[in-house]
Amino acid sequence: MDRIRIVGGRELNGVIPISGAKNAALPLMIASLLTPETLTLENVPDLADVNRLLRILGNHGVDHMVEGRRFGDSPDASRTIRLSARDIVDTTAPYELVSKMRASFWVVAPLLARMGEAKVSLPGGCAIGTRPVDLLIMALEKLGAKVEIEAGYVHATASRGLRGAEIEFPKVTVGGTHTAMMAAATAQGATRILNAAREPEVVDLAACLNKMGAKISGAGRSEIEIEGVGRLNGARHRVLPDRIEAGTYAIAAAMAGGDVLLAGAEAGALQNALDALVAAGAQVAVSNEGVRVKRNGAGLSPVDVETAPFPGFPTDLQAQFMALMTRAKGDSRITETIFENRFMHVQELARLGARIRLEGDVALVEGVERLEGAPVMATDLRASVSLVIAALAAEGETMVNRVYHLDRGFERLEAKLSGCGAVIERLSS
Ligand code: UD1
Repeated sequence: MDRIRIVGGRELNGVIPISGAKNAALPLMIASLLTPETLTLENVPDLADVNRLLRILGNHGVDHMVEGRRFGDSPDASRTIRLSARDIVDTTAPYELVSKMRASFWVVAPLLARMGEAKVSLPGGCAIGTRPVDLLIMALEKLGAKVEIEAGYVHATASRGLRGAEIEFPKVTVGGTHTAMMAAATAQGATRILNAAREPEVVDLAACLNKMGAKISGAGRSEIEIEGVGRLNGARHRVLPDRIEAGTYAIAAAMAGGDVLLAGAEAGALQNALDALVAAGAQVAVSNEGVRVKRNGAGLSPVDVETAPFPGFPTDLQAQFMALMTRAKGDSRITETIFENRFMHVQELARLGARIRLEGDVALVEGVERLEGAPVMATDLRASVSLVIAALAAEGETMVNRVYHLDRGFERLEAKLSGCGAVIERLSS
Protein backbone atom coordinates (compact mmCIF):
# COMPACT_ATOMS: atom_id res chain seq x y z
CA MET A 1 0.00 0.00 0.00
CA ASP A 2 1.36 3.46 -0.90
CA ARG A 3 2.35 5.98 1.75
CA ILE A 4 3.11 9.67 1.56
CA ARG A 5 6.15 11.11 3.29
CA ILE A 6 6.18 14.79 4.16
CA VAL A 7 8.92 16.86 5.77
CA GLY A 8 7.32 19.97 7.23
CA GLY A 9 8.53 23.52 7.59
CA ARG A 10 8.71 24.70 3.98
CA GLU A 11 6.71 27.62 2.63
CA LEU A 12 4.54 27.09 -0.44
CA ASN A 13 5.25 29.40 -3.35
CA GLY A 14 4.00 29.00 -6.90
CA VAL A 15 0.99 28.01 -8.95
CA ILE A 16 -1.37 25.12 -8.27
CA PRO A 17 -3.73 24.28 -11.14
CA ILE A 18 -7.21 23.37 -9.89
CA SER A 19 -8.76 20.24 -11.41
CA GLY A 20 -12.34 19.58 -12.42
CA ALA A 21 -14.64 18.92 -9.45
CA LYS A 22 -15.03 15.31 -8.40
CA ASN A 23 -18.44 16.04 -6.89
CA ALA A 24 -19.67 17.56 -10.14
CA ALA A 25 -18.06 14.98 -12.44
CA LEU A 26 -19.75 12.04 -10.69
CA PRO A 27 -23.41 13.14 -11.14
CA LEU A 28 -22.64 14.44 -14.65
CA MET A 29 -21.26 11.05 -15.63
CA ILE A 30 -24.34 9.37 -14.14
CA ALA A 31 -26.56 11.69 -16.21
CA SER A 32 -25.17 10.01 -19.34
CA LEU A 33 -27.55 7.12 -18.56
CA LEU A 34 -30.49 9.39 -19.45
CA THR A 35 -29.79 9.50 -23.18
CA PRO A 36 -28.88 7.03 -25.96
CA GLU A 37 -26.72 9.79 -27.46
CA THR A 38 -23.17 10.74 -26.50
CA LEU A 39 -22.47 13.00 -23.53
CA THR A 40 -19.00 14.53 -23.77
CA LEU A 41 -17.53 15.81 -20.52
CA GLU A 42 -14.44 18.01 -20.48
CA ASN A 43 -12.21 18.72 -17.50
CA VAL A 44 -12.89 15.38 -15.81
CA PRO A 45 -10.35 14.76 -13.02
CA ASP A 46 -8.27 11.60 -13.11
CA LEU A 47 -9.31 10.15 -9.75
CA ALA A 48 -9.99 6.71 -8.33
CA ASP A 49 -13.69 7.56 -7.78
CA VAL A 50 -14.12 8.68 -11.40
CA ASN A 51 -12.46 5.54 -12.73
CA ARG A 52 -14.56 3.38 -10.43
CA LEU A 53 -17.75 5.07 -11.64
CA LEU A 54 -16.68 4.41 -15.25
CA ARG A 55 -16.60 0.70 -14.38
CA ILE A 56 -20.02 0.89 -12.70
CA LEU A 57 -21.55 2.67 -15.69
CA GLY A 58 -19.90 0.13 -18.00
CA ASN A 59 -21.82 -2.55 -16.14
CA HIS A 60 -25.07 -0.85 -17.15
CA GLY A 61 -23.96 -0.66 -20.79
CA VAL A 62 -22.30 2.77 -20.98
CA ASP A 63 -19.35 2.82 -23.39
CA HIS A 64 -16.71 5.40 -22.68
CA MET A 65 -13.79 6.83 -24.53
CA VAL A 66 -11.13 8.94 -22.91
CA GLU A 67 -9.72 11.43 -25.40
CA GLY A 68 -5.96 11.11 -25.33
CA ARG A 69 -3.61 13.90 -24.36
CA ARG A 70 -1.81 15.37 -27.30
CA PHE A 71 1.96 15.45 -27.59
CA GLY A 72 3.23 18.46 -25.69
CA ASP A 73 0.18 18.78 -23.43
CA SER A 74 1.14 19.47 -19.83
CA PRO A 75 0.31 16.75 -17.28
CA ASP A 76 -2.27 19.20 -15.93
CA ALA A 77 -4.24 19.14 -19.20
CA SER A 78 -7.67 17.93 -18.23
CA ARG A 79 -9.33 14.79 -19.54
CA THR A 80 -12.27 14.69 -21.88
CA ILE A 81 -14.49 11.63 -21.62
CA ARG A 82 -17.21 10.63 -24.06
CA LEU A 83 -19.98 8.54 -22.52
CA SER A 84 -22.49 6.74 -24.61
CA ALA A 85 -25.40 4.76 -23.12
CA ARG A 86 -26.91 3.59 -26.41
CA ASP A 87 -28.35 0.44 -24.87
CA ILE A 88 -28.85 -0.09 -21.18
CA VAL A 89 -27.99 -3.75 -20.71
CA ASP A 90 -28.48 -4.09 -16.96
CA THR A 91 -30.59 -2.07 -14.50
CA THR A 92 -29.00 -3.62 -11.40
CA ALA A 93 -26.13 -1.94 -9.54
CA PRO A 94 -24.64 -4.63 -7.31
CA TYR A 95 -23.41 -4.32 -3.74
CA GLU A 96 -19.77 -5.03 -4.67
CA LEU A 97 -19.72 -1.82 -6.73
CA VAL A 98 -22.08 0.54 -4.87
CA SER A 99 -20.61 -0.22 -1.43
CA LYS A 100 -17.26 1.27 -2.52
CA MET A 101 -18.67 4.65 -3.52
CA ARG A 102 -21.84 6.12 -2.13
CA ALA A 103 -22.52 8.48 -5.05
CA SER A 104 -22.96 5.50 -7.36
CA PHE A 105 -26.34 4.97 -5.68
CA TRP A 106 -27.54 7.96 -7.72
CA VAL A 107 -27.71 5.74 -10.85
CA VAL A 108 -31.11 4.75 -9.48
CA ALA A 109 -32.70 7.94 -10.87
CA PRO A 110 -31.66 7.83 -14.55
CA LEU A 111 -32.12 4.04 -14.76
CA LEU A 112 -35.64 4.37 -13.38
CA ALA A 113 -36.45 7.34 -15.62
CA ARG A 114 -35.24 5.68 -18.79
CA MET A 115 -35.99 1.98 -18.20
CA GLY A 116 -38.92 2.12 -15.75
CA GLU A 117 -36.93 0.00 -13.34
CA ALA A 118 -33.78 0.05 -11.25
CA LYS A 119 -32.36 -2.23 -8.61
CA VAL A 120 -29.53 -0.61 -6.70
CA SER A 121 -27.76 -1.85 -3.60
CA LEU A 122 -28.06 0.28 -0.49
CA PRO A 123 -24.69 2.01 -0.07
CA GLY A 124 -24.26 0.71 3.48
CA GLY A 125 -22.40 2.33 6.37
CA CYS A 126 -19.56 4.69 5.80
CA ALA A 127 -16.73 6.20 7.77
CA ILE A 128 -18.52 9.51 8.32
CA GLY A 129 -21.79 8.39 9.84
CA THR A 130 -24.80 6.43 8.70
CA ARG A 131 -25.64 8.57 5.63
CA PRO A 132 -29.09 7.18 4.80
CA VAL A 133 -30.86 7.37 1.41
CA ASP A 134 -34.41 7.79 2.76
CA LEU A 135 -34.80 11.26 1.21
CA LEU A 136 -33.67 10.04 -2.21
CA ILE A 137 -36.28 7.28 -2.02
CA MET A 138 -38.91 9.79 -0.87
CA ALA A 139 -38.21 11.92 -3.96
CA LEU A 140 -38.56 8.95 -6.32
CA GLU A 141 -41.83 7.92 -4.64
CA LYS A 142 -43.22 11.44 -5.00
CA LEU A 143 -42.51 11.14 -8.72
CA GLY A 144 -44.66 8.02 -8.83
CA ALA A 145 -42.12 5.25 -8.39
CA LYS A 146 -42.96 2.16 -6.39
CA VAL A 147 -40.01 1.45 -4.14
CA GLU A 148 -39.34 -1.75 -2.24
CA ILE A 149 -36.33 -2.58 -0.15
CA GLU A 150 -35.43 -6.22 -0.31
CA ALA A 151 -32.26 -8.02 0.77
CA GLY A 152 -30.21 -4.83 0.90
CA TYR A 153 -31.39 -3.58 -2.49
CA VAL A 154 -33.63 -0.66 -3.40
CA HIS A 155 -35.95 -1.88 -6.12
CA ALA A 156 -37.74 1.01 -7.82
CA THR A 157 -40.28 0.57 -10.59
CA ALA A 158 -42.43 2.96 -12.62
CA SER A 159 -44.03 0.83 -15.31
CA ARG A 160 -46.06 3.73 -16.67
CA GLY A 161 -43.28 6.28 -16.31
CA LEU A 162 -42.62 8.99 -13.73
CA ARG A 163 -44.97 11.96 -13.17
CA GLY A 164 -43.99 15.47 -12.13
CA ALA A 165 -44.69 16.35 -8.48
CA GLU A 166 -43.80 18.67 -5.64
CA ILE A 167 -40.84 17.38 -3.64
CA GLU A 168 -40.01 19.14 -0.40
CA PHE A 169 -36.84 17.99 1.32
CA PRO A 170 -37.02 18.25 5.13
CA LYS A 171 -33.22 18.57 5.12
CA VAL A 172 -30.90 19.96 2.45
CA THR A 173 -29.41 17.05 0.52
CA VAL A 174 -27.06 17.32 -2.44
CA GLY A 175 -27.57 13.72 -3.56
CA GLY A 176 -31.35 14.06 -3.07
CA THR A 177 -31.42 17.17 -5.25
CA HIS A 178 -29.31 15.50 -7.98
CA THR A 179 -31.57 12.44 -7.87
CA ALA A 180 -34.78 14.47 -8.04
CA MET A 181 -33.50 16.58 -10.98
CA MET A 182 -32.38 13.54 -12.99
CA ALA A 183 -35.61 11.63 -12.33
CA ALA A 184 -37.89 14.61 -13.06
CA ALA A 185 -36.12 15.77 -16.24
CA THR A 186 -38.06 13.33 -18.42
CA ALA A 187 -41.13 12.84 -16.16
CA GLN A 188 -44.57 13.77 -17.44
CA GLY A 189 -45.50 17.29 -16.33
CA ALA A 190 -43.92 19.76 -13.95
CA THR A 191 -41.86 19.18 -10.79
CA ARG A 192 -41.01 21.60 -8.02
CA ILE A 193 -38.15 20.86 -5.66
CA LEU A 194 -38.39 22.79 -2.40
CA ASN A 195 -35.51 23.25 0.04
CA ALA A 196 -33.20 22.12 -2.75
CA ALA A 197 -29.42 22.04 -2.25
CA ARG A 198 -27.79 25.19 -3.69
CA GLU A 199 -24.29 23.77 -4.14
CA PRO A 200 -22.41 24.78 -7.33
CA GLU A 201 -22.37 21.08 -8.31
CA VAL A 202 -26.20 21.14 -8.42
CA VAL A 203 -26.03 24.18 -10.70
CA ASP A 204 -23.51 22.39 -12.91
CA LEU A 205 -25.69 19.28 -13.24
CA ALA A 206 -28.74 21.41 -14.10
CA ALA A 207 -26.73 23.31 -16.73
CA CYS A 208 -25.61 20.06 -18.35
CA LEU A 209 -29.12 18.55 -18.24
CA ASN A 210 -30.44 21.71 -19.91
CA LYS A 211 -27.84 21.34 -22.67
CA MET A 212 -29.21 17.79 -23.08
CA GLY A 213 -32.66 19.28 -23.64
CA ALA A 214 -34.09 19.39 -20.12
CA LYS A 215 -36.07 22.39 -18.88
CA ILE A 216 -34.75 23.13 -15.41
CA SER A 217 -34.83 26.58 -13.84
CA GLY A 218 -33.85 27.90 -10.43
CA ALA A 219 -30.81 25.66 -9.79
CA GLY A 220 -28.65 27.48 -7.24
CA ARG A 221 -31.76 28.65 -5.40
CA SER A 222 -33.85 26.74 -2.86
CA GLU A 223 -36.68 26.22 -5.30
CA ILE A 224 -36.03 24.39 -8.56
CA GLU A 225 -38.65 23.99 -11.28
CA ILE A 226 -38.52 21.29 -13.90
CA GLU A 227 -40.77 20.97 -16.91
CA GLY A 228 -40.57 17.33 -18.00
CA VAL A 229 -39.49 16.68 -21.60
CA GLY A 230 -40.03 13.55 -23.71
CA ARG A 231 -36.37 12.68 -24.20
CA LEU A 232 -32.88 13.98 -23.70
CA ASN A 233 -30.10 14.23 -26.27
CA GLY A 234 -26.32 14.23 -26.21
CA ALA A 235 -24.33 17.34 -25.27
CA ARG A 236 -20.88 18.67 -24.49
CA HIS A 237 -20.18 20.11 -21.06
CA ARG A 238 -17.15 21.26 -19.07
CA VAL A 239 -16.96 20.18 -15.43
CA LEU A 240 -16.62 23.15 -13.08
CA PRO A 241 -13.40 23.64 -11.05
CA ASP A 242 -13.15 21.76 -7.77
CA ARG A 243 -13.96 24.20 -4.96
CA ILE A 244 -12.98 21.67 -2.30
CA GLU A 245 -9.59 21.05 -3.88
CA ALA A 246 -9.11 24.83 -4.20
CA GLY A 247 -10.17 25.39 -0.57
CA THR A 248 -7.82 22.64 0.58
CA TYR A 249 -4.78 24.21 -1.10
CA ALA A 250 -5.85 27.66 0.10
CA ILE A 251 -5.78 26.31 3.66
CA ALA A 252 -2.45 24.57 2.95
CA ALA A 253 -0.94 27.89 1.83
CA ALA A 254 -2.25 29.63 4.94
CA MET A 255 -0.80 26.84 7.08
CA ALA A 256 2.65 26.66 5.49
CA GLY A 257 2.95 30.36 4.69
CA GLY A 258 4.08 31.67 1.30
CA ASP A 259 2.23 32.81 -1.79
CA VAL A 260 0.18 30.46 -3.96
CA LEU A 261 -2.00 31.08 -7.01
CA LEU A 262 -4.85 28.57 -7.27
CA ALA A 263 -5.16 28.72 -11.03
CA GLY A 264 -8.71 28.38 -12.31
CA ALA A 265 -10.33 28.45 -8.84
CA GLU A 266 -13.66 30.25 -8.60
CA ALA A 267 -13.82 32.45 -5.52
CA GLY A 268 -17.62 32.71 -5.63
CA ALA A 269 -17.94 28.98 -4.94
CA LEU A 270 -15.62 29.32 -1.97
CA GLN A 271 -16.49 32.64 -0.37
CA ASN A 272 -17.30 31.42 3.12
CA ALA A 273 -14.05 29.47 3.43
CA LEU A 274 -12.00 32.36 2.00
CA ASP A 275 -13.60 34.73 4.53
CA ALA A 276 -12.56 32.33 7.31
CA LEU A 277 -8.99 32.29 5.96
CA VAL A 278 -8.85 36.09 5.89
CA ALA A 279 -10.11 36.16 9.49
CA ALA A 280 -7.33 33.71 10.34
CA GLY A 281 -4.73 36.11 8.93
CA ALA A 282 -4.22 35.07 5.30
CA GLN A 283 -4.40 37.51 2.41
CA VAL A 284 -6.72 36.52 -0.40
CA ALA A 285 -6.82 38.18 -3.82
CA VAL A 286 -9.19 37.21 -6.63
CA SER A 287 -8.29 37.72 -10.29
CA ASN A 288 -9.19 36.35 -13.71
CA GLU A 289 -6.52 33.73 -13.25
CA GLY A 290 -7.95 32.36 -10.03
CA VAL A 291 -7.47 32.93 -6.31
CA ARG A 292 -4.17 33.92 -4.72
CA VAL A 293 -3.52 33.11 -1.07
CA LYS A 294 -0.62 34.59 0.88
CA ARG A 295 0.58 34.53 4.44
CA ASN A 296 3.82 36.10 5.46
CA GLY A 297 5.30 36.20 8.91
CA ALA A 298 2.34 36.93 11.16
CA GLY A 299 0.81 34.10 13.16
CA LEU A 300 -2.65 32.63 12.68
CA SER A 301 -5.66 33.97 14.56
CA PRO A 302 -8.27 31.56 15.92
CA VAL A 303 -11.56 31.50 13.98
CA ASP A 304 -14.78 29.65 14.87
CA VAL A 305 -16.55 27.92 12.01
CA GLU A 306 -19.77 25.95 11.71
CA THR A 307 -20.43 23.77 8.69
CA ALA A 308 -23.65 24.36 6.74
CA PRO A 309 -25.11 23.64 3.31
CA PHE A 310 -23.91 25.99 0.55
CA PRO A 311 -23.25 28.92 0.75
CA GLY A 312 -22.18 28.12 4.31
CA PHE A 313 -18.82 26.71 5.37
CA PRO A 314 -18.46 23.33 3.57
CA THR A 315 -18.30 20.18 5.64
CA ASP A 316 -15.76 18.91 3.10
CA LEU A 317 -13.29 21.57 4.34
CA GLN A 318 -13.95 21.10 8.05
CA ALA A 319 -11.07 18.69 8.69
CA GLN A 320 -8.61 20.86 6.75
CA PHE A 321 -9.64 24.02 8.62
CA MET A 322 -9.30 22.21 11.92
CA ALA A 323 -5.73 21.28 10.94
CA LEU A 324 -5.04 24.97 10.33
CA MET A 325 -6.53 25.98 13.68
CA THR A 326 -4.22 23.60 15.56
CA ARG A 327 -1.50 26.24 14.98
CA ALA A 328 -3.60 29.34 15.76
CA LYS A 329 -2.70 31.68 18.60
CA GLY A 330 -5.67 30.85 20.78
CA ASP A 331 -8.78 28.67 20.97
CA SER A 332 -11.30 28.00 18.24
CA ARG A 333 -14.59 26.09 17.99
CA ILE A 334 -15.38 23.95 14.98
CA THR A 335 -18.97 22.78 14.76
CA GLU A 336 -20.04 20.03 12.37
CA THR A 337 -23.75 20.18 11.56
CA ILE A 338 -23.98 18.04 8.40
CA PHE A 339 -22.51 14.67 9.29
CA GLU A 340 -22.36 12.88 12.61
CA ASN A 341 -19.05 11.23 13.35
CA ARG A 342 -17.01 13.43 11.02
CA PHE A 343 -14.25 14.02 13.54
CA MET A 344 -12.20 10.92 12.82
CA HIS A 345 -9.19 13.11 12.02
CA VAL A 346 -9.04 14.49 15.59
CA GLN A 347 -7.14 11.56 17.07
CA GLU A 348 -4.66 11.53 14.23
CA LEU A 349 -4.06 15.29 14.47
CA ALA A 350 -3.40 14.69 18.17
CA ARG A 351 -0.59 12.31 17.18
CA LEU A 352 1.12 15.32 15.60
CA GLY A 353 0.75 17.29 18.84
CA ALA A 354 -2.60 19.03 18.30
CA ARG A 355 -4.79 19.73 21.34
CA ILE A 356 -8.44 19.13 20.48
CA ARG A 357 -11.36 18.25 22.75
CA LEU A 358 -14.63 16.90 21.41
CA GLU A 359 -18.01 17.84 22.86
CA GLY A 360 -20.74 16.29 20.74
CA ASP A 361 -20.71 17.99 17.37
CA VAL A 362 -18.19 20.63 18.50
CA ALA A 363 -14.41 20.36 18.41
CA LEU A 364 -12.59 22.76 20.73
CA VAL A 365 -9.14 23.41 19.32
CA GLU A 366 -6.44 24.90 21.50
CA GLY A 367 -3.74 26.27 19.23
CA VAL A 368 -0.21 25.01 19.91
CA GLU A 369 3.22 26.50 19.21
CA ARG A 370 4.49 23.52 17.30
CA LEU A 371 3.39 20.28 15.70
CA GLU A 372 5.76 17.38 15.36
CA GLY A 373 5.86 14.82 12.54
CA ALA A 374 4.63 11.27 13.24
CA PRO A 375 3.17 8.28 11.42
CA VAL A 376 -0.56 8.84 10.89
CA MET A 377 -3.40 7.17 9.09
CA ALA A 378 -6.75 8.38 7.92
CA THR A 379 -10.23 7.02 7.55
CA ASP A 380 -11.69 9.18 4.82
CA LEU A 381 -10.81 11.48 2.01
CA ARG A 382 -10.99 14.89 3.66
CA ALA A 383 -9.51 13.62 6.92
CA SER A 384 -6.47 12.31 5.03
CA VAL A 385 -5.75 15.63 3.44
CA SER A 386 -6.11 17.43 6.79
CA LEU A 387 -3.18 15.32 7.97
CA VAL A 388 -1.16 16.40 4.94
CA ILE A 389 -1.90 20.04 5.81
CA ALA A 390 -0.85 19.57 9.42
CA ALA A 391 2.30 17.76 8.27
CA LEU A 392 3.31 20.74 6.10
CA ALA A 393 3.69 22.80 9.27
CA ALA A 394 5.00 20.05 11.53
CA GLU A 395 8.64 19.73 12.46
CA GLY A 396 10.31 16.67 10.99
CA GLU A 397 8.83 13.80 9.05
CA THR A 398 5.23 12.67 8.81
CA MET A 399 4.25 9.44 7.10
CA VAL A 400 0.61 9.34 5.97
CA ASN A 401 -0.67 5.80 5.57
CA ARG A 402 -3.74 4.57 3.66
CA VAL A 403 -3.13 6.95 0.80
CA TYR A 404 -5.88 5.38 -1.31
CA HIS A 405 -8.31 7.78 0.40
CA LEU A 406 -6.38 10.72 -1.04
CA ASP A 407 -6.36 9.16 -4.49
CA ARG A 408 -10.17 9.12 -4.44
CA GLY A 409 -10.37 12.90 -4.44
CA PHE A 410 -7.07 14.69 -5.07
CA GLU A 411 -5.47 14.60 -8.49
CA ARG A 412 -1.64 14.60 -8.44
CA LEU A 413 -1.53 15.89 -4.87
CA GLU A 414 2.19 15.30 -4.31
CA ALA A 415 3.13 16.88 -7.65
CA LYS A 416 0.98 19.95 -7.01
CA LEU A 417 2.44 20.53 -3.53
CA SER A 418 6.05 19.70 -4.37
CA GLY A 419 5.77 22.05 -7.36
CA CYS A 420 5.34 24.82 -4.79
CA GLY A 421 8.30 23.78 -2.68
CA ALA A 422 6.82 21.27 -0.24
CA VAL A 423 8.92 18.24 0.59
CA ILE A 424 6.43 15.49 -0.16
CA GLU A 425 6.82 12.17 -1.92
CA ARG A 426 4.90 8.97 -2.50
CA LEU A 427 6.50 5.75 -1.37
CA SER A 428 5.14 2.72 -3.18
CA SER A 429 5.37 -0.67 -1.59
C1 UD1 B 1 -22.41 15.27 -1.07
C2 UD1 B 1 -20.93 15.26 -1.38
C3 UD1 B 1 -20.11 15.20 -0.10
C4 UD1 B 1 -20.51 16.35 0.84
C5 UD1 B 1 -22.02 16.37 1.04
C6 UD1 B 1 -22.50 17.56 1.84
C7 UD1 B 1 -20.76 14.15 -3.53
C8 UD1 B 1 -20.29 12.97 -4.30
N1 UD1 B 1 -20.62 14.09 -2.19
O1 UD1 B 1 -22.71 14.04 -0.42
O2 UD1 B 1 -18.72 15.31 -0.44
O3 UD1 B 1 -19.88 16.18 2.08
O4 UD1 B 1 -22.70 16.38 -0.23
O5 UD1 B 1 -22.10 18.73 1.24
O6 UD1 B 1 -21.21 15.12 -4.08
N2 UD1 B 1 -29.33 12.63 4.36
C9 UD1 B 1 -30.40 11.95 4.88
N3 UD1 B 1 -31.15 11.19 4.03
C10 UD1 B 1 -30.89 11.10 2.71
C11 UD1 B 1 -29.78 11.81 2.17
C12 UD1 B 1 -29.02 12.58 3.03
O7 UD1 B 1 -30.67 12.00 6.08
O8 UD1 B 1 -31.61 10.38 2.00
C13 UD1 B 1 -28.50 13.46 5.27
C14 UD1 B 1 -27.06 12.98 5.35
O9 UD1 B 1 -26.90 11.93 6.26
C15 UD1 B 1 -26.36 14.26 5.78
C16 UD1 B 1 -27.15 15.35 5.06
O10 UD1 B 1 -28.41 14.76 4.73
O11 UD1 B 1 -26.50 14.43 7.15
C17 UD1 B 1 -26.51 15.89 3.81
O12 UD1 B 1 -26.16 14.81 2.95
P1 UD1 B 1 -26.08 14.99 1.37
O13 UD1 B 1 -26.10 16.43 1.03
O14 UD1 B 1 -27.13 14.11 0.76
O15 UD1 B 1 -24.66 14.39 1.04
P2 UD1 B 1 -24.22 13.58 -0.26
O16 UD1 B 1 -25.01 14.04 -1.43
O17 UD1 B 1 -24.17 12.13 0.04
